[in-house]
Amino acid sequence: MKIGIDRLGLYSPNYYVDLAELATARGVDPNKFIIGIGQSEQAVPPAAEDVVTMGANAASEFIDDIDQSKLGMVILGTETGIDASKSGAVIIQNLLQLPKHVRTYEIKQACYGGTAGLMAARDYVAAHPDRTALVIAADIARYGLASGGEVTQGAGAVAMLISADPKIMTIEDDSAFLSDDIMDFWRPVYTDLALAKGKYSTEKYIEFFQQAWAEYKQSTGLDLADFAAINCHLPYTKMGMKALKTVLPDEDEQTQARINARYAESTNYSRRIGNIYTGSLYLALISLLESSTDLHAGDRLGMFSYGSGAVGEFYSGFLQEGYATYLNKDGHLQHLNDRKKLSVAEYETMFNSKVPYAAADFATDTTLNTGKFQLTGVVDQERKYVRL
Ligand code: HMG
Repeated sequence: MKIGIDRLGLYSPNYYVDLAELATARGVDPNKFIIGIGQSEQAVPPAAEDVVTMGANAASEFIDDIDQSKLGMVILGTETGIDASKSGAVIIQNLLQLPKHVRTYEIKQACYGGTAGLMAARDYVAAHPDRTALVIAADIARYGLASGGEVTQGAGAVAMLISADPKIMTIEDDSAFLSDDIMDFWRPVYTDLALAKGKYSTEKYIEFFQQAWAEYKQSTGLDLADFAAINCHLPYTKMGMKALKTVLPDEDEQTQARINARYAESTNYSRRIGNIYTGSLYLALISLLESSTDLHAGDRLGMFSYGSGAVGEFYSGFLQEGYATYLNKDGHLQHLNDRKKLSVAEYETMFNSKVPYAAADFATDTTLNTGKFQLTGVVDQERKYVRL
């Protein structure tokens, strides 16, 4: 039985900061951010947006077009959840007015949470082929103003419907994965700013890629030549290529050229949105599918997921006949192009306007553009959401 991604939805905030301007403001050569790190723009969420509103917005791209009576699971993969106990998934389920007889929960393992959700959904559909699962990967990457990680911030969500006979891409049962207890990136519960050992995390990402790929090659007998493209988790667009470069020289020229060209296409959206943690690998997938004119039904795509802390997984999927019909290239490009550019000062004000970690009531600025769902604030320590 084929199981995989039947629908894809994408959302990222309507505001961004230009990274050449940010570099100048921080006294850095803009080429470091744009060429060295590979980021041009960065999505900035207003306080009225969080992983719940962004996740609901991403799913709203297709949720009214699917048979909701088949839905058996709603999973939110996030590492920037809005509560330490209650899952954001149940709020999304309510905002989207989904059926109640659904298993609903949130998964956390840094940027791996989206893939963890996807694999749980795959197993669920394998056991219940007539059911579907909604997996949402949503995050706001925050390291702090003028911090080393500032250039790798971002915000957004990807929603995926997992089903039998998927319309877009299968998820093959061929995963190679590994986990280890390391401190390369983490976020203590008292802060909304992530801590990262930048260079160490980059090294660990590469090591996890190499080990997962070696294990995958050995268990499947496949090689890079068998892939039309490799999508990677993209904390910044240079990162996946740093890992791929360690294995590409073993390949023939044609394979190298193909993997390089497809990789470049997979980075187009991340370059303009930034790191969306759990959703970044799936943002790369959407970017590739909507940018490339060199992909065909039957092509095998590689997927490398990395979540600090750390878990790495490599798996593959086959593109399905007519997959392009189920994408939203024009809508996504229009959205990116229509966003409002913030000056660095405006970005800093928006960054500092976030709902604080505090017991007091708080009202967000609901005049800012947030898509179809909005966090209006916190009253008596309860977050209040509306569907616009
Ligand atoms: P940095 O130390 O400021 O950057 O931090 P750098 O000095 O390493 O420079 C970056 C690149 O720019 C280098 O190229 C420089 O040569 C180049 P490379 O050696 O990498 O090829 N450069 C220039 N290029 C052109 N013109 C110039 C110029 N100057 C320098 N003038 C870092 C970069 C990414 C480490 C930092 O932003 C950071 O700490 N980010 C957060 C952590 C992170 O993203 N780690 C990635 C791996 S871990 C991961 O993926 C998991 C994660 O998504 C979280 C999760 O799992 O939940 C983060």
